[in-house]
Amino acid sequence: MIKKVSTGMIRAMKACGEKIAALTAYDYPMAKMLDEAGIPLLLVGDSVGMVVLGYPDTTHVTMAEMEHHVAAAARAKPNALLGGDLPFKSYETVDAAVSNAKRLVAAGAEFVKAEGGREVLPQVKAIIAAGIPFCGHLGMLPQHVLEEGGYHIKGKVEAEHQRLLDDAKLLAEAGAFAIVLELVTPPVAREISQALQIPTIGIGSGQDCDGQILVTHDLVGGFPWFTPRFVKPRAHIAGNIKSVVGEWKNALQTPPTTA
Ligand code: KIV
Repeated sequence: MIKKVSTGMIRAMKACGEKIAALTAYDYPMAKMLDEAGIPLLLVGDSVGMVVLGYPDTTHVTMAEMEHHVAAAARAKPNALLGGDLPFKSYETVDAAVSNAKRLVAAGAEFVKAEGGREVLPQVKAIIAAGIPFCGHLGMLPQHVLEEGGYHIKGKVEAEHQRLLDDAKLLAEAGAFAIVLELVTPPVAREISQALQIPTIGIGSGQDCDGQILVTHDLVGGFPWFTPRFVKPRAHIAGNIKSVVGEWKNALQTPPTTA
């Protein structure tokens, strides 16, 4: 029997050198498929806003939308550990962070993730003190896209490198069970991974993180209008869907022949 994955098991994977595979799942069938494929860590990311809800970036995603998608994915009752993102502006204060983290847990999340380091540390500590497992997110922070004017690689300059390393240590000391490193230069991602006891889960941050996370739509070619440079799609399901429905439509015009 496959065991329910816990945060302790995710941490233990780093300790025994097993790479952690993590993917996004925003609904019941995807959570069920990824779970059946043996993915141990699933995230209802706020990327749902871009690849499912049609927003230009993640800053439009609301708590109600996150609850809706977390609940859908949780209905799959995965053995995988299932987490949900705290969306833009939902953790500006300690009180808001704790009450919104509790809402995601009530919807079915087993951990929450929020973006940032020292600037959100009081919120992170309060979430963990409330008994909710927390995953950090450092490097390029998509919820800051408007103020930063785009999605930029982090860690290229020394001050950024040092800040990332210090923030990662602060999150780990605060009790985060893992940290996503997004678009961090590979040498800095490697250094952070080596410096921490808890696992790093990289996205566009090189091969030396303790695990990798991708937006599932990017991996399977489900959002063909934009694919991040660091992803090589392993399927082209959008193309497959278009050709299958095209064939079905054409077949409607051809009446079946009778013998
Ligand atoms: O929103 C998201 O899907 C994420 C991951 C890709 C890390 O934050």
